[in-house]
Amino acid sequence: MYNEIQRLKNETDAVLLAHYYVDKEVQKVSDYVGDSYYLAKIAKEIPQKTILFSGVYFMGESAKILNPEKTVLLPELSADCPMAHMARTEKIQQMRAEIDDLAVVCYINSTAALKANCDVCVTSSNAKTIIQNLPHKNIFFIPDVHLGRYIASLVPEKKFYFNDGFCPVHQRITASQVAIARKEHPFAPVLAHPECDFSVLQSADYVGSTSGIIAYASSCDSQEIIIATEVGVLYELEKRNPHKKFFAVTSEQICNDMKKITLDKVISTLKTKTNQIEISEDLRKKALIPLNRMLELAAKPTL
Ligand code: 13P
Ligand code: SF4
Repeated sequence: MYNEIQRLKNETDAVLLAHYYVDKEVQKVSDYVGDSYYLAKIAKEIPQKTILFSGVYFMGESAKILNPEKTVLLPELSADCPMAHMARTEKIQQMRAEIDDLAVVCYINSTAALKANCDVCVTSSNAKTIIQNLPHKNIFFIPDVHLGRYIASLVPEKKFYFNDGFCPVHQRITASQVAIARKEHPFAPVLAHPECDFSVLQSADYVGSTSGIIAYASSCDSQEIIIATEVGVLYELEKRNPHKKFFAVTSEQICNDMKKITLDKVISTLKTKTNQIEISEDLRKKALIPLNRMLELAAKPTL
């Protein structure tokens, strides 16, 4: 099977990108696996003409926006992040009309239409740096209320306005479930993704993106670690740390959309070159502005 994938990749000049939340069998065959910021950056840097993106729609769409000359394939086009739709352009326009000195900051988990109406995109690994680097005093953060609240707590010098979007997978994790997990594993620190509710984040020992969680877990001395994010990260965590034990807070930390990406679909998509991401040139150009701004501002040192 690995040989077949290699042959298909050579034939189509393709590279396989995957997010940490997809099935481990898909992560194993992928060339680059990472968090959403890393994947957006790497998509711009790689030379291959075809990108097969194992992730949800907004991730493949962002790769296409950044690389219009490339063919971007998504093994399952219905793999869609529900939070990406949880904001309205009318509300953005209303906020712009009502509030002076406002930057509309868009979590990358959003549709191209939402991105097109925003000033800058962010991911959980660069949101703090980017917002600190913005000249604006006021920030309207969409779509995720939890990431927005968390970043607001780190950047108290700015005034934040929140939207009511959320990730159903992370919002499901509660502070009382975290407390139970701590009782079961009293020496284990809790590492949480900032899409969790603020009460979970306040009780966590570390808060960060999927890459941040993996880096922290790999460098800390603890031999047992509690994870408050999607269980797909366990593959990389266990691979890098074979002697450590990882526990999810609950058995429900599963993103069904990410799990729609199966190894069979990866192979058949490579063979048929179907499931291409398409976007109108007008929308692409508008959505490119905040994505490029993200790449530019994330590289700047924090003010
Ligand atoms: P990361 O940016 O940490 O990879 O998160 C993406 C995501 O969808 C989290 O739910
Ligand atoms: Fe979207 Fe949540 Fe799935 Fe991430 S885990 S892709 S935010 S539904």
